[in-house]
Amino acid sequence: MKNEYDNENFFQEYAKMSRSREGLKAAGEWHQFKPLFPPLQGKNVLDLGCGYGWHCTFAAEQGAVRVLGLDLSEKMIEEAKKRNAGEQIEYRVCGIEEYEYPKNMWDCVVSNLALHYIEDIENVFQRVCTTLKPGGTFIFNMEHPVFTAGVGQDWVYAEDGTPQYWPVDHYFISGERSTHFLGCEVVKQHHTLTQILMGLLNNGFELEVVEEAEPSEEMLHIPGMKDELRRPMMLLVKARCASEG
Ligand SMILES: C[S@@+](CC[C@H](N)C(=O)[O-])C[C@H]1O[C@@H](n2cnc3c(N)ncnc32)[C@H](O)[C@@H]1O
Repeated sequence: MKNEYDNENFFQEYAKMSRSREGLKAAGEWHQFKPLFPPLQGKNVLDLGCGYGWHCTFAAEQGAVRVLGLDLSEKMIEEAKKRNAGEQIEYRVCGIEEYEYPKNMWDCVVSNLALHYIEDIENVFQRVCTTLKPGGTFIFNMEHPVFTAGVGQDWVYAEDGTPQYWPVDHYFISGERSTHFLGCEVVKQHHTLTQILMGLLNNGFELEVVEEAEPSEEMLHIPGMKDELRRPMMLLVKARCASEG
């Protein structure tokens, strides 16, 4: 499977992002994502698409006894091992679609900004519910359907270069979207809001929290951040696995 994160140019550009240099405190969604974590003392946590492993370290700091971070990219896993190693943390090169999802294994499954790379998201939801212990928690943050359905994932600009509006088209046609991100062509997957939320409800989950990312007051001075209040870029969900896997 092609993954742009293993492309050297893309990987170097990703490394320049503030979230890559400074970790979770520089991530625009963290003030909304952090409160979704359940108590993790003594718990087992799985991170799908862990990247540099920031959330794995956070889980270990919260008292998790076993944390497994999966990522398709060898480069990202290499980086995670350097930056976010820990006695309780294991990293594995593995696609979200390929993981074996053992029954009743994890107390909490986390995924930040990786599920918009997954084509059959409903299949992943079903398998996540299977691998969670009954009552276990799934928290994720993915690109919002309004963002993934955007035309070329970019604003329409005025002549002076300021963003005029965010175009949305073909909303109900889910699937592949070719986008430009960090100077590369990156393929993402668009899913409608119904597919995401009903996909959870139809596969054993109860919804606990649904949020759309908005920058915090403290971040609004950062160039471009005010534009994040013009359309939702990310969808955050906390769901409880209600069925026995
Ligand atoms: C935007 S990064 C987010 C990384 C990390 N979760 C974070 O928040 O810092 C997206 C990550 O998803 C990984 N990824 C993309 N498609 C994947 C797949 N099919 N299976 C596993 N990981 C995948 C990429 O390699 C990359 O590390």
